[in-house]
Amino acid sequence: MAEFTIEDNARMTQTGAGTPLGELFRRYWLPAFVSKRLSTPGGEPVEMKLLGDAFIAARDADGTVSIRSAEKSFPTWEAGRIVWTYIGPPELQPEFPNWLFTSLPDSHIVAEMYLQDCNYLQGLEADLDFVHGSYLHGNFAEGGQVESGTEALQAGKMDAIASELGVQLLAHWPSPNYPGCNEYLKHSMIVPCFTSSMDNSIAGGLFHAWVPIDDEHHLVYYVHFDEAAPLSEEERLQIARGWGHDLIDPAHGFRSLACKDNKHLQNWARYKKYLYSGIPGVSAQDLAIISSMGPIVDRSLENLGAIDVGLVRLRRYLLRTVSQFAASGKVPRYPAHMPDAEGAVWVIPGDATWRDALEGRVKNMRRDVRTMPLSKTTLIAGSIQARDLIAREAS
Ligand SMILES: [Fe+2]
Repeated sequence: MAEFTIEDNARMTQTGAGTPLGELFRRYWLPAFVSKRLSTPGGEPVEMKLLGDAFIAARDADGTVSIRSAEKSFPTWEAGRIVWTYIGPPELQPEFPNWLFTSLPDSHIVAEMYLQDCNYLQGLEADLDFVHGSYLHGNFAEGGQVESGTEALQAGKMDAIASELGVQLLAHWPSPNYPGCNEYLKHSMIVPCFTSSMDNSIAGGLFHAWVPIDDEHHLVYYVHFDEAAPLSEEERLQIARGWGHDLIDPAHGFRSLACKDNKHLQNWARYKKYLYSGIPGVSAQDLAIISSMGPIVDRSLENLGAIDVGLVRLRRYLLRTVSQFAASGKVPRYPAHMPDAEGAVWVIPGDATWRDALEGRVKNMRRDVRTMPLSKTTLIAGSIQARDLIAREAS
């Protein structure tokens, strides 16, 4: 019997006004669009949608962004190269959250968004999937290899755990750089539609948001950041190429140029030589899979396995949180110090486990993103340079 019913599926995917999940989403600050979409003060307003509702947004002459529906205007906040808004009940408006990247100068950040033609949960679930990274994003020319992840899961080297605030994917491996130590990774899903992890392409942080614009479309945000230093031109180029951001087309509603109509630029020769998917760019590879499943997947038809533990924990978390909200009107609240909940990699003593680290029993944990292995862990995507590869193959 399927673990999730048709009714469960509706409760996890419907975000219009008046739906249980839609009302939960409306209790949080949500990204509305990347700041560069409205770059000129006093410039032409744009139409936008969020959770099925239509809005007009404009950057006023003083540089602030206004978001209005037909009846009223809504609070906005610009941080992390993103314009955020809150469209819930005014009397319940929370403080703007102190994400790791939201207080950094723009010079430390790259923020991009894509319009994806499917329900937000398909995108969010892909980020909580343990194993797809090593093959869907596998680049054998750069030392990538296919790993199922099953052995690591059974050996307790990987797991997924739910908390009040969301779900954490956890993994550890022997440190190649610190003898006798392990490296421990926490990849956090945070209510209602965010994830926080590390970005191996720049040895920095990566924040994701999957924000419904309606039930069959969403905007996915990629925020890459370096807490310690401004991103160099070389790093910005590496991010754009590796993740496929150089394929975003602002003139086409911020869709990727690699789309269903051109089979996501899949190329057989590329597949045969070095690229497991034959599709250029991590974001285009993910989009090909999640959009080809249809606008809203029927999860009552699935047969889930042990390796799907991340998805199962996520769905149970969403259903439980929506039920509690419907019964009590209370939503999970973010901690004052948001980085405690966010994703990271730490170096920990060899006799400590990830559970010790998660529960605060390890002293002097060292946060060190530079030690992340580029090809061994199943949680890390291979780096594929989209336009460069296409140009190289054409020449
Ligand atoms: Fe992926």
